[in-house]
Amino acid sequence: MDVTQAAATLPELAPELVVERPWWRDAVVYQVYIRSFADANGDGTGDIAGVRAHLPYLAALGVDALWFSPWYPSPLADSGYDISDYRSIDPKFGTLWEAEQLISEARELGIRTIVDIVPNHVSNEHAWFREALAAPAGSAARERFWFRAGTGENGELPPNGWQSIFGGSAWTRLPDGEWYLHLFAPEQPDLNWSHPDVVTEHEDILRFWFDRGVAGVRIDSAALLVKDPELSEEPADPNPGEHPFTDRDELHDIYRGWRGLADSYDEPRVLVGEVWLPDAERLARYLRPDELHTAFNFDFLACPWEPGPMRASIESALASHAPVNAPATWVLANHDVTRTVTRYGRADTSFAFETKREGTPTDLVLGNRRARAAALLAMALPGSMYVYQGEELGLPEAENIPPERRQDPMWLRSGGVDPGRDGCRVPLPWSGQLPPFGFSPNGNAPLWLDQPDDWAPLSVEAQTDDPASMLNLYRVGLRIRREAPWGAGAELSWLNHGDDVIAFARGGRFLCIANLGSQPVELPAGTEVLVGSAELVGNAVPQDTTVWLVRTGSEGPPEATPAEQ
Ligand code: NOJ
Repeated sequence: MDVTQAAATLPELAPELVVERPWWRDAVVYQVYIRSFADANGDGTGDIAGVRAHLPYLAALGVDALWFSPWYPSPLADSGYDISDYRSIDPKFGTLWEAEQLISEARELGIRTIVDIVPNHVSNEHAWFREALAAPAGSAARERFWFRAGTGENGELPPNGWQSIFGGSAWTRLPDGEWYLHLFAPEQPDLNWSHPDVVTEHEDILRFWFDRGVAGVRIDSAALLVKDPELSEEPADPNPGEHPFTDRDELHDIYRGWRGLADSYDEPRVLVGEVWLPDAERLARYLRPDELHTAFNFDFLACPWEPGPMRASIESALASHAPVNAPATWVLANHDVTRTVTRYGRADTSFAFETKREGTPTDLVLGNRRARAAALLAMALPGSMYVYQGEELGLPEAENIPPERRQDPMWLRSGGVDPGRDGCRVPLPWSGQLPPFGFSPNGNAPLWLDQPDDWAPLSVEAQTDDPASMLNLYRVGLRIRREAPWGAGAELSWLNHGDDVIAFARGGRFLCIANLGSQPVELPAGTEVLVGSAELVGNAVPQDTTVWLVRTGSEGPPEATPAEQ
C-alpha cells in the first residue's frame, strides 16, 4: 500500500468532538516572503500580483492564513525589515489597492491575512529619523530614538558596549558627534518606546491595517522594544527580566494596549509575537489572556532531530502554554534559518544562528526523509502551525551564493564569516526546466537572488502529479488536519513505544507515531494508516518516518499504554 496517500475516507467525528474554536488556535499559517514568492511584472522580484495569481495554489495547499513578511516601502537594507513608511506598499511589490484586493480575494477562498509589524526600529529613511538627523543634538526630534553622547575623552567611543545582533557595535556615530542605537543594522535605528509618539503611532498603524481587513499582525523582535533607560551593560548571565534590552517587564503594558485594540474589532484581530527567549515560562508571560494570542515556538524550530530533545521540546511547549490557555505553535523554518531539508541532512541537526554551517557535509536524501517525518509530526500536534514558503516543496538551502550576489546584512556585517540568510530566501521554482523556473514571466529577468540550476525536479509543476512528492505530503497532511480527525483542540496523550519514538494519541481514536530510532516500530493492533511520510516496512514504521493512524474500532485497546506524565 502507498501510505504516503491518505486513506480515502476519514472516520466521522463523535459529535462531542465537533466544537467551534477561534480560528487562530489551530490555524496553518503560510509565510509569504514576497520578494521570492512569484514575480508577475517580470522585474525579477516577487510582487503582490504574483501572490494573487497563485492564491488557488495556496487554497489547494490547505492553509488558513498568509503571513506577509514586510511589503512596505523600504530601502531593503534588511530585506524589508527596515521600513520607511508603514502605511503603504513598496512600488516594487505593488500598490495599497492591490494589497486590499489580495486581502479580500484570499478571504473569499477562506484564507486570512497577517501582516508584519516592525515596532523595534524603523528605516534610516523613515521620516522621523530624517527629521532627527536634520535636528541638532538634544532636540525633541531625537527623543523618539536613542541618541547619546559617546564615551572616551572626545566621545569617540560608543555610549556602551551593546553589540548589534548582526555583529559589531550597536551604536553608530553621526558627523555631529552623537551616537544612535541600532540593535540590528545601522540602517535600522531603534525607537524609544517610552516616548508617547512611538506608542500612539503604532496603535494608529495597527488600526490602519486592521481597518483594511487583515486578520492579525506578526510582531517583529517583540521582546526587544523596551530598553534600560540607564543603558546598563549586558550582564554575562542575566536574571530573567533583568537584561537591559530583552524581555523587560514594561513590554507587557504595550501588548496589553494592543490586545485591547485588537479585541475591539469584530472579528477580533490576532497578535503573533516573534519572541526569541530560551525560557519557556518567560515566553508564556507574553501569552497571558490579555496579551498576545500566540508566539513562534523557536525552541521546536531549533531542536535537533533526536527523539529525547524533540519530545522534551514538545512537552515543555505544551506545559508552559497550558496555564495561560494559549495554543502552542509548531514552526520548522522561516526566512531567518537554514532550510529544514538541509539542516536535517547534517550531522548536527540543531539550529543556532552562530552555527549555520554552510559547506558542511549534507545528505539531502536523509534530510528530505526527516523533513517529511517532521512535517507530519508538526501537523499532528495540538496548536497552530507555520509553513515557510518552499518548505512544502522540500527546498534545500541554496549554498555557494557568490559573495557579490549576497544581500544579507548578517553576511556583510560579519565580514563573510556568517553565511547569512540568503540561502533560505531564494525565489520559488514553479515550473519548467531552467531558471527562473516560472518564478517570473520574463525568462531573462535578473532575479534578486539566483536560483540553483538544478531545481527543476523541485518545482510545483514537477511535484504536482507525483504522489510521493513533498508537495503532496503537505497537501494530504493539511487536508486531513483541516478535517481534524482528532477533534478540534483535542489534547495529546503520550504513548510509550520506547525512547526513540515520539507517539501520542489525540481525541481517543487518532494516533501519531514518529520513529526517530533505528528499530522499526510495529503498528499497534486495530489501527489503520491514514497517511505516512514514508513506506512501511512490512507492518512496521521504519526510521525517520511518521505515520498517522486511526483506531478501527472493536479490536481491543492499542498495544501501547499512555505513558506516565
Ligand atoms: C526578525 C526578522 O525575522 C529578521 O528577518 C530581521 O532581520 C530582524 N527581526 C530585524 O527586523
